[in-house]
Amino acid sequence: MELIDYIESKQDDHLNELKEFLRIPSVSTKTEHKPDIGKAAHWVAEKLRAAGLDNVAVTPTKMHPLVYAESLHAPGKPTILFYGHYDVQPAEPLDLWTSPAFEPVVRNGNLFGRGTADDKGQVHIHIKALEALQRVSGKLPVNVKVIIEGEEEVGSVNLWDFVRQNRARLKADALVVSDTSMLAKGVPSITYGLRGLNYYQIEITGPSQDLHSGVFGGAVPNPITVLAETIAKLHSKSFRVAIPGFYDDVAALSRQERKALNSLPWKEKEFRKTVGAPALCGEKGYSIVEQLWVRPTLELNGIWGGYTGEGAKTVIPSKAWAKLSTRLVPNQEPAKIANLVERHIRKILPKAVTAKFELLSTGKPWVASYSHPIFQKAIQALESGFGKKAVFIREGGSIPFVTQMHDTFKVPCVLLGFGLPDENAHAPDEHIALANYFGGIKSVALFYEQLSTL
Ligand code: BES
Ligand code: MN
Ligand code: MN
Repeated sequence: MELIDYIESKQDDHLNELKEFLRIPSVSTKTEHKPDIGKAAHWVAEKLRAAGLDNVAVTPTKMHPLVYAESLHAPGKPTILFYGHYDVQPAEPLDLWTSPAFEPVVRNGNLFGRGTADDKGQVHIHIKALEALQRVSGKLPVNVKVIIEGEEEVGSVNLWDFVRQNRARLKADALVVSDTSMLAKGVPSITYGLRGLNYYQIEITGPSQDLHSGVFGGAVPNPITVLAETIAKLHSKSFRVAIPGFYDDVAALSRQERKALNSLPWKEKEFRKTVGAPALCGEKGYSIVEQLWVRPTLELNGIWGGYTGEGAKTVIPSKAWAKLSTRLVPNQEPAKIANLVERHIRKILPKAVTAKFELLSTGKPWVASYSHPIFQKAIQALESGFGKKAVFIREGGSIPFVTQMHDTFKVPCVLLGFGLPDENAHAPDEHIALANYFGGIKSVALFYEQLSTL
């Protein structure tokens, strides 16, 4: 087949070009990387142009620019909106990387570097698939709109405004996203559910300034102690979130879906190995897959305060902080949960401290039916690219845009994940299996091709 031959002949070029993308440290959360964010946006724009897309634009937002492109030359054919993100998570802790985060290298069939799996590698899969279709047939088989943002890893804060202002422009028959994982190696997967996310920061203030812990200790509130005690009260012994009302709106899983999810070829042994902890601890009464995909959680993401430098310093700090987040599932409402969390924490805090509560980002959970015929096309394409039948999974991560698009346009959202759960997304030694990267380009090209007969 000409298309597949063409893609296979370009493997070295594809890999080298992806490495170029990965060398740009486009970390969205850090101001010092603002120039790299700009560079990455323009890099994406240039590659979209090279792939033959029109109206390529790098649009500024209040924070990081969005890249938009389109190719609308297939009258009567469906219009597909592809979404991805060019921003990445910080690489820290740097000393835990085997090779530097922004100097991509291949080891044992894996490409290592920040953004390989999440999400530059997966974005590149689509750009190269579109380019291959364009080169081989001189045009794209369907109409395509592309939106690649630079704020996903900080909660897609400004994307929503863009969607609202460009409703007509973004209208499509389906949304396609590659920013998720396969269930396991050799198991191509289509994700039909994601958890939502509320991210909070709390600042606790006790004394109005730092105090000598000998002179004052024993009589004054220590904000670190108060914070630790408060946090310790947020879970019960059976690992349930101990915030009244937290589970009120959680949708029950149908018997059918529960059975389907629990009989997927998911290996607990592999999961335990990836986690690497002496034991697991999850909400009682649910399988691990259920705990990860269909149950809400509350997690601490960071806690700090006082003296953390070398040696000892006897101090009672004025302030202590925590970053925490709640993963949400259907039908929990992010705003309602944010209220419950803040109200409860304020209620259990002692009178001796004050608290400042911030909601840094918020995103709704998503679950959708996969009965639309486009999913059959996806299965076929993945089967041609990987030689294996795809499975339908839910996942625990969050992609705010998917829910926003689904709510806005009520179109099918096809999440084709080419990452793997043990590829260290957000962690040191992030990588992508080359087999999935190359298999992804083939599958995605075939997918777009097959969509012309949808
Ligand atoms: N690609 C991930 C989301 C993801 C990971 C979905 C694995 C399914 C499986 C995305 O880049 C991400 O990390 N999202 C953040 C959300 C956010 C609002 C900062 C997350 O899930 O923590
Ligand atoms: Mn991602
Ligand atoms: Mn991510």
